[in-house]
Amino acid sequence: MYRKTHQTIQDWYLENGRLDLPWRNTDEAYYIYLSEVMLQQTQVKTVLERYYIPFIERFPTLKNLAEAPLDDVLKMWEGLGYYNRAKNLHRTATLVETLPSNIEELIKLPGIGKNTAHALAAFAFNQPVPIMEANVKRILCRLHRLITPTEKRLWEIAYDLVDKVNPFDYNQAMMDIGATVCLPRNPKCGACPLSDICKGKEDPERYPAKKKRVVPTREQNILVRIYEGKLSLTQREGKFLHGLWGFESVEIPECASEYLGEVTHAYTHFKLNCKVYLYYENAPEQTDYFSEDEIQKLAISKVDEKIVNLYNSFLKYD
Ligand code: ADE
Repeated sequence: MYRKTHQTIQDWYLENGRLDLPWRNTDEAYYIYLSEVMLQQTQVKTVLERYYIPFIERFPTLKNLAEAPLDDVLKMWEGLGYYNRAKNLHRTATLVETLPSNIEELIKLPGIGKNTAHALAAFAFNQPVPIMEANVKRILCRLHRLITPTEKRLWEIAYDLVDKVNPFDYNQAMMDIGATVCLPRNPKCGACPLSDICKGKEDPERYPAKKKRVVPTREQNILVRIYEGKLSLTQREGKFLHGLWGFESVEIPECASEYLGEVTHAYTHFKLNCKVYLYYENAPEQTDYFSEDEIQKLAISKVDEKIVNLYNSFLKYD
């Protein structure tokens, strides 16, 4: 089945694929695993430019990662977001010496769901299984003219289509085809190696249905306590951004606080709007206070980084 299509995909990949991505040029399962986790919610460009290589240099083996304090791991993850990914990666490193090669065992590990388990099986262990990610889903929907497919149907189609002889190149190619040819808008069907078998190519943009997403806005008042020029930060304990250092969120700012400005940040499920207030302490509370240099060494989230920047620009122009 699909012998000709597999050959066309293979030829397309060798000609047009992103063959030089570092995680496509290693046999080390841990490095492939790391790339898949980083790429779960982050673009290739960001992972490639700022995170993948430094992380490997800092934690070259799964054992090094297991032995490192979580704070150090979070520091290397700083700015990448979705910090649970880093915590799960670290936990997995403490649970296994080497990664298992089979999907059932992989799925049992923290942070490895069905998609990542399939990606690892195909890319790290060359198993004849398909992968599923947003770009691949779009291709499968178009191939079969699916407007609102179920996950079950998508996996069936994916298993049916996968090149069992060459799963590595096939799966990497599918992602690249989705990212560069089978685009959400104005797909280049004329240049697509799957066009012979694609039922949706007459009107590809119909498939799949576009998701309408309305994200709520959360409002927060942030109080930056200042004592002797240092800023108060605490390590977060709640579910949100757990383990990262951040400024205090308060119901009502202290009376004597000074309004500094607003910062916003878009998360997947909501938009965060923070009104930032400064409060100069006469006597320090139990909270920790940090100088600018000390803050640099802490793992903090993007919003808190924006707050630090807002504060620094206020100091400059005050
Ligand atoms: N996204 C998830 N896995 C990927 C990979 N191996 N190459 C490029 N993008 C990806």
